[in-house]
Amino acid sequence: MIMLPSTFRVASRAAAPRSVTAAFSTSAVKAMATPATERPPKMKSFKIYRWDPENPTEKPKMQTYNIDLNKTGPMVLDALLKIKNEVDSTLAFRRSCREGICGSCAMNIDGVNTLACLCRIDRDASSSNIYPLPHMHVVKDLIPDLTQFYKQYRSIEPYLKADGPPPGGREYLQSPEERRHLDGLYECILCACCSTSCPSYWWNQDAYLGPAVLMQAYRWMADSRDAHGDERREKLENTFSLYRCHTIFNCTRTCPKGLNPAKAIAQIKKDMAVGAPKVVDRPLQSP
Ligand code: SF4
Ligand code: SF4
Ligand code: FES
Repeated sequence: MIMLPSTFRVASRAAAPRSVTAAFSTSAVKAMATPATERPPKMKSFKIYRWDPENPTEKPKMQTYNIDLNKTGPMVLDALLKIKNEVDSTLAFRRSCREGICGSCAMNIDGVNTLACLCRIDRDASSSNIYPLPHMHVVKDLIPDLTQFYKQYRSIEPYLKADGPPPGGREYLQSPEERRHLDGLYECILCACCSTSCPSYWWNQDAYLGPAVLMQAYRWMADSRDAHGDERREKLENTFSLYRCHTIFNCTRTCPKGLNPAKAIAQIKKDMAVGAPKVVDRPLQSP
């Protein structure tokens, strides 16, 4: 049981004076409040991609919703939630954390792959176009099918592979310098914005792993505690898995977390060409 300090216990037992109680009752507060001045409506139209798997013969279409920006939050996800909650509950999209952590609200907003919860509504433009992530099969409306993306992620074995138990039997240790080489890699939230902006991934996603998954492969190659870097690189030694990257940098330009998958891919290619250096001799991903 948590014991409160005696002064607090005494104070909380004492009855509040009548005048204080009256001053903070709901009706009294309401009476004192200055009425808010209604701001004039600031309308914006959101044109949103719609497709319903229950009507598979119907073609996808763009549906327009007009929203008062003065009655919604500042982010595109706020507008989508307003539409779903107040206008059209059939609109489907993914979201969870609403703060750029879960990666589920990735979509194409006005031509850019990004996270709806981190994308401010452009108040100067009268309309916005919202599509699902490009070149993916669509489950419904703004929800892309990420089955292949996650299958590819599984294929790179995204976990620590050591050769034996840790020294001392407790944990695998890492120096601060070694740990710094994971910065710029571990922050990836697997939103797939980068992979679905990559032309090579659009055309070869059955065989090319794409920037998100390759950056995660490199994340384990750059981990001083992992003992299977050579094996990880060997698995990429074929025409498609890695070498379909042509260093176009769309992936880096679009990443909503400011990461640089193209740089990680270039480092894997270099390691495969000239041999992998020790972790501390690698360039930092996030200087
Ligand atoms: S690298 Fe960036 S864009 Fe790509 S999956 Fe990770 S967080 Fe998303
Ligand atoms: S740099 Fe490579 S992975 Fe990134 S968009 Fe270009 S081809 Fe795709
Ligand atoms: S809702 Fe989680 S990243 Fe946008």
